[in-house]
Amino acid sequence: MNKCKYDFTSIMDRRGRDAYAVDGLGQNRWQIEPCPPKNGFDFIPMWVADMNFPTCPAVTDAIIERAKHPAFGYFEISDAYYDSIIRWRQGAPWDGEGSRPHAQLERKQIGYENGVHGFVTSAVRVMTQPGEKILLHSPNYVGFRSDTWAQGRECVFSPLKMDEEGIWRMDLADMARQIEENDIHVMIFCSPQNPSGRVWERWELEEMMKMLEAHHVDVICDEIWADLTFEGHPHTPLQDVSPYAREHVLAAYAPSKTFNIAGLIGSYHIIYNEELRRKVTQQGSLTNYNEINVLSMHALIGGYSAEGREWLQELNRTLEENGSFALDFIRREFPGITVARPQGTYMMWLDLSDYLAGSGRTLEEVLHAGWDVGVGWQSGVHFEGPSHIRLNLASPLSRIQEAFRRMKEYVFT
Ligand SMILES: Cc1ncc(COP(=O)(O)O)c(C=O)c1O
Repeated sequence: MNKCKYDFTSIMDRRGRDAYAVDGLGQNRWQIEPCPPKNGFDFIPMWVADMNFPTCPAVTDAIIERAKHPAFGYFEISDAYYDSIIRWRQGAPWDGEGSRPHAQLERKQIGYENGVHGFVTSAVRVMTQPGEKILLHSPNYVGFRSDTWAQGRECVFSPLKMDEEGIWRMDLADMARQIEENDIHVMIFCSPQNPSGRVWERWELEEMMKMLEAHHVDVICDEIWADLTFEGHPHTPLQDVSPYAREHVLAAYAPSKTFNIAGLIGSYHIIYNEELRRKVTQQGSLTNYNEINVLSMHALIGGYSAEGREWLQELNRTLEENGSFALDFIRREFPGITVARPQGTYMMWLDLSDYLAGSGRTLEEVLHAGWDVGVGWQSGVHFEGPSHIRLNLASPLSRIQEAFRRMKEYVFT
C-alpha cells in the first residue's frame, strides 16, 4: 500500500481507557464477551465493532477547540451540523450512473438519533404493532434482537446465500415467500451488511425494492457502515433507488463506525416521507433522552470535512488490505472454512460448518482455543450463525498477522 499520511500502524494500548473491547473480557454484561487469554498471551481485540486505530485528527481537533470555551450549557443543533451531514452524504462516491447520492437532501429530512439502536427501536414501534413479524436477513447484526424482540415484535429470517463466485446474495424468492406467509409489512435491512461485509450493488437494491413495493413493505434501513467501502464497491443509499424507496425507506447513518467515535454517541436519520418522519421524531422524543451532546456535535462536524474524507480513504485502503490478507490466509491455510472477500465494513464472517463436521470439534471449543491465545474473536451464534465466527479486522496489519499466526499455530493445527 502507498505510504499513509495518517497513523494506521501504531499499536494503541486501550486498557483502562474506556474500551469495552479490551476491558470487557470475561465479563458477562451482554453474554457475548470473549474469555481472557492464558498467561503469556496478550489480547488482540477482534470482536466489539470499534477500531484499534486513533480517530481522524480533525475529530479530536474539533472537540479540543470546542472544549477551550469552558461553558457547556443548553444549546441548539447548529447549521454547521446539518450542512456537514448534507455535504458528506452527497459527497459519497458517485454511483457511476450520473446521480449524486441523496441529491435532494434537505435539513428538515435529517433528525438526530441517540444511536442507530434508538432509531431502529423508534422506527419499529412506529411501523409495527406488538406481536407483528418483521423480516430480516440472516446472518445479521446482534443489536437488532433488542430493537425487535425487546419491543415485543417477532423476527423472520431470510438467509443470505453464497453464489458460485463466493459472493453473499439475498434470496428474493425466499424473502417474498416469507413476506406472504407471515403477513409482513416491515423489513429491517443492513447496508453495507454486518457481519458479511457485503456492499449491495445498485441493481440488487432496485430488484429488492421492486419486490418489496409489490408487497407493500416498508424498510427500516441501517446504513451505519455506509462510509466503509472498498475499491470498486461504492455504497448506494437505498432511498435513492426508486420513488417508492424514497417514500418508504427510513434510513439511519452515523459518524461512529467511520471515525471510531461510538463512545461519543450520535447518529441521525434521513426520512423523506413527512408523515413517517413526524411519527419517528415524536416517538424518539417521548423519553426525553433523544438529545445530542455538544462534543458529539462538534466531533461530527470535524469528521465530516475534507480532512475527514482524506483520512477515510486511507482507512478504507487499510481495511481492504487487512481483509485481503485474512482472506488469502484462510483460503490457503484453513481448509473447511468458507469466507467471502469483504467489500466493506471491517467484519469478516467465517463459516466453519465443513471444518467442524470434518474435525469433530464444536464451535465453542474452537472459540475457546482462540481466546486462550489472545485471539479475541466472537461467536457467530449471536448473529444467527450457528457454525460461524465474526472477526473484526480493524487493527494495524501487524496485529492481524499475529492473530492469524496464532490461529495457525494453536487453533487450527
Ligand atoms: C449494523 C449496526 N447497526 C447499529 C450499530 C450500533 O449503532 P449505535 O452505536 O449508533 O447504536 C452497530 C454497531 O456495531 C451495527 O453494526
